[in-house]
Amino acid sequence: PLPPPFRVPLPLPAVLAPVSRAGGTDRYAITQREVTAEILPGVRTPLWTYGGTFPGPTIESRRGRPVTVTHRNELPVPTVVHLHGGRTPAASDGYPTDLVTPAGWTQHAGHGMSGHGMSGHGMSGHGMSMHDPRAVTSELTRDYTFPLDQRPALLWYHDHRMDFTAPAIWRGLAGLHIVRDAAEEALGLPAGPRELPLMIADRAFAEDGSLAYPSLDPTLRERPGVREPYVAGVLGDVILVNGAPWPVHEVDAARYRLRLLNASNARHYELAFVDEGDGRLWEFHQIGSDQGLLAAPVTHHTLPMAPAERYDVVVDFSRFPVGSRVRLVNRLGSGRTRDVMAFHVVRKASDDSRVPRVLSTDLPAWRREDAVRVRDFSFRAGRMGEDDTHGWLIGGLPFAPSRTDVTVRHGDTELWRLVADVHHPVHLHLTGFRILSRGGHPPLPHDAGLKDTISLRPGESAELLTRFDAYRGRYLFHCHNAEHEDMGMMANLEVV
Ligand code: C2O
Ligand code: CU
Repeated sequence: PLPPPFRVPLPLPAVLAPVSRAGGTDRYAITQREVTAEILPGVRTPLWTYGGTFPGPTIESRRGRPVTVTHRNELPVPTVVHLHGGRTPAASDGYPTDLVTPAGWTQHAGHGMSGHGMSGHGMSGHGMSMHDPRAVTSELTRDYTFPLDQRPALLWYHDHRMDFTAPAIWRGLAGLHIVRDAAEEALGLPAGPRELPLMIADRAFAEDGSLAYPSLDPTLRERPGVREPYVAGVLGDVILVNGAPWPVHEVDAARYRLRLLNASNARHYELAFVDEGDGRLWEFHQIGSDQGLLAAPVTHHTLPMAPAERYDVVVDFSRFPVGSRVRLVNRLGSGRTRDVMAFHVVRKASDDSRVPRVLSTDLPAWRREDAVRVRDFSFRAGRMGEDDTHGWLIGGLPFAPSRTDVTVRHGDTELWRLVADVHHPVHLHLTGFRILSRGGHPPLPHDAGLKDTISLRPGESAELLTRFDAYRGRYLFHCHNAEHEDMGMMANLEVV
């Protein structure tokens, strides 16, 4: 039985303490391990975690101050860590075959990376061999180094192992990483207890309390993919915020900054704040996007949010009488999945926060005319592998680590045109982008600012403008519907 909504207090993920701050670098250590936790009241749920909790611990960083995270894998299978939204050198970007391998793991022929069922992109599709310089690299622990020379933003880290990303995230391998700087802090935005990170993710639970996921191979050792009715993506009937089902949070009658992340594998949301008293939708201010602050706030009554997108919003709870309850709802949900969480306005309080009319002046000034190249990519369903199973393809091809799909010159500005068959949230590693158009029209109000994930709607085309001025090396772009990603919808990008 599912718990009634708005009873469980909203958990706030603990901020991880560095093991050292010596030499100008913040060093952290995270052990990936299996734990059993109580997510639904009275129910024991086994999880795969970063450091024993879901979400994993939050890392708080300063812009330009490097961070090294040593990950140790005590899970039963290899893992890969990717910092989503990070401007990261390729060696630390969590390429899907750069594994952190648990002690005692052996890779047999016909197992793991080379054994494919449902997703069908088998050995020949991946084209890997022991002689391939891009073959699997693996270590028992791995140091990931993040320069974080980038705009302050809410980033997140999650698993990225080839073919098995979706079930690994589902089991709990996701956490937040917040980058801050003095300019943002000087704005006077709501802060401290009035800044809340909210990781929204749906999950399903089996009878025995475990997380239910329709893997072809529940050990996640050999055969990737999901059973046939789930190829479009796996949805859950329980909405978790920071790992708690439909939580409630007591708030002052004051402004709050909510740092929203959709960490769901496949679920889309259309978020709105509803006054339980009169059912009205309340306006709120978007101040930031995937890659940090907007130039100026944008007012919304509803906000669509695709997997992996982040939105930074300010809600003013002083507009509600003390004692009222405000629901954060998903207008795309039905029944229990319509509710996300609630805010209970419990006390009057002073509030000297503000939402300035100018939020940032450091957004890239790229213009359409700066693009030296135009590229087209289709994101569509197709057949793949020798057994011709269902796949999700970019430009007609499933992911293959050995193939370079796109080579870009360092420093170039490019215009990318994407087109989708069904909903595909497309994510580009390494660099942010500006959305220039959707379906031949100007972008939507929430498309403002610097993005790293665009929610391509069914049948829609969009134009993106980006510049590859960070690092050289091999990166990825892919659909962030995690099941689509595992079933081939990913491609290699080489910056030279
Ligand atoms: Cu959030 Cu390539 O991932
Ligand atoms: Cu997709």
